[in-house]
Amino acid sequence: MQTTNDIRRSFLDYFAGQGHEIVPSAPLIPYNDPTLMFINAGMVPFKNVFTGTEKSSYSTATSSQKCVRAGGKHNDLDNVGYTARHHTFFEMLGNFSFGDYFKEQAIHHAWTLITKTWGISPDRLIVTVYHTDDEAFDLWKKIAGLPDERIIRIATDDNFWSMGDTGPCGPCSEIFYDHGDHIEGGPPGSPDEDGDRFVEIWNLVFMQYDQRGEGDRIDLPKPSIDTGMGLERVAAVMQGVHDNYDIDLFKTLIAESGSLTGTITTGDNQASHRVIADHLRASSFLVADGVLPSNEGRGYVLRRIMRRAMRHAHLLGAQDPLMHRMVGSLTGEMGNAFPELIRAKPLIEETLLREETNFRQTLANGLKLLDAEIAEMDDGDILPGATAFKLYDTFGFPYDLTEDALRAQSLGVDREGFDAAMAEQKAAARAAWKGSGDQASDAVWFDIAEREGSTEFTGYTSEEGEGVVVALVKDGKEIKTAERGDVITLLTNQTPFYGESGGQMGDAGRVSGADGFAADVSDTRKPLGRLHAHQIEITAGSLSLGDMVHLAVDADRRT
Ligand code: ALA
Repeated sequence: MQTTNDIRRSFLDYFAGQGHEIVPSAPLIPYNDPTLMFINAGMVPFKNVFTGTEKSSYSTATSSQKCVRAGGKHNDLDNVGYTARHHTFFEMLGNFSFGDYFKEQAIHHAWTLITKTWGISPDRLIVTVYHTDDEAFDLWKKIAGLPDERIIRIATDDNFWSMGDTGPCGPCSEIFYDHGDHIEGGPPGSPDEDGDRFVEIWNLVFMQYDQRGEGDRIDLPKPSIDTGMGLERVAAVMQGVHDNYDIDLFKTLIAESGSLTGTITTGDNQASHRVIADHLRASSFLVADGVLPSNEGRGYVLRRIMRRAMRHAHLLGAQDPLMHRMVGSLTGEMGNAFPELIRAKPLIEETLLREETNFRQTLANGLKLLDAEIAEMDDGDILPGATAFKLYDTFGFPYDLTEDALRAQSLGVDREGFDAAMAEQKAAARAAWKGSGDQASDAVWFDIAEREGSTEFTGYTSEEGEGVVVALVKDGKEIKTAERGDVITLLTNQTPFYGESGGQMGDAGRVSGADGFAADVSDTRKPLGRLHAHQIEITAGSLSLGDMVHLAVDADRRT
């Protein structure tokens, strides 16, 4: 049997043999895109190479990129544990051409690797193309010899891939594996395509355009290639199993959680073990890449993932913190391919242990309250929002944890009621705020914090980084643009600048951006204790809400 590690290696080796540079996975926090919470596709680290704004020393590359889909646009968290193929963390194998080869070579490589090198039977494969892409249709016939009925034209977005509202994009062609007629489901484009029989294993994107905004699409400097193959999915195919959680890697992790909790791993326990195995991977890799559990932004996504797993450990009857004891098993499986996991092992273990120890103090009482509520409910009933809020506020239950707990009993939660209770609490905090005593200037900070949330501080791991402009404040009022000579306060969604608090000085430095924009940062303050407000003087160009800027701390002054 080829292990998951073997398959990753053989993918990278195949493309290295074809002249591609093997590029190590980028960290999960995207350094080049402040609008994205986590890297969620293999092409993200290469985004600027595709558009030509960044030069690389190679024109073709291959990688196995760590991806997290939880929080943000692609969010698979709620489904993990209950399906064969959802993960919060997964690896995306890919090969990339930056203006080097295009469709013909991409299709040739894909077909050669899977049918020749890996020996997957061509009879099991069907492909899709974008409905107007005759060229791709003809190439599949020529290269793979597929009959017309196994090259399916798809007219929807499924076969036009884009990173998000902006960024490189183009028509795509997907390769599907048929797991056999003993499994329900129809081919892509058919009414029952959502069944589990035909599984997409590889997406070849023919990158041709750069979407710069709504209705504003330009050609890329040169036609390029971006492909993505889910490692866990293809491992399932090559190991002759239908379910991703039955591949070698997950079997090891699930066996470990079974043995540590002394429980069987099938039947009613299956979902819990899957959640634990999946969330252990996401949590460990996020900590290794510098995210720590908190109540905001990325840190809160991590906390939600961790606590969801911890409730499932509790369900299995674990009497003591469990997750930190499984890290050794994970590094055994994945530490060779990702050495950062081994380097960060002590930090990962300590973080998991501390979070689980803290959470266990309120978990049992929260579950008691929840069980009492459930006992009063009938199938299909909705838990009052105020109760979900109490679980959140008093017992540390993230909203989706409550939802997950009710799901097994076919019960729901009143989301609107939860949001209303949250808003009420914020209004009360605002009313009670004494602050600087200057009501006008405090009001503006509350407005910004309510609209945008807290500023995410990225300065633990870096003194530079990108941010999106979320507010500009002049004389206590919000403005939309500012120009050379203006002295204003700048707020971005994230920043490496430390804000003045508890007697420590705030950071100074520089901000720069498109069209020659530049500004000096004289100081950074921390209104409400959670916004990082840069005091800037614009020395060149202009600045508007929504702009992306580069923030660089004056490192000498910081030390
Ligand atoms: N970027 C493409 C995807 O994520 C390959 O499917």
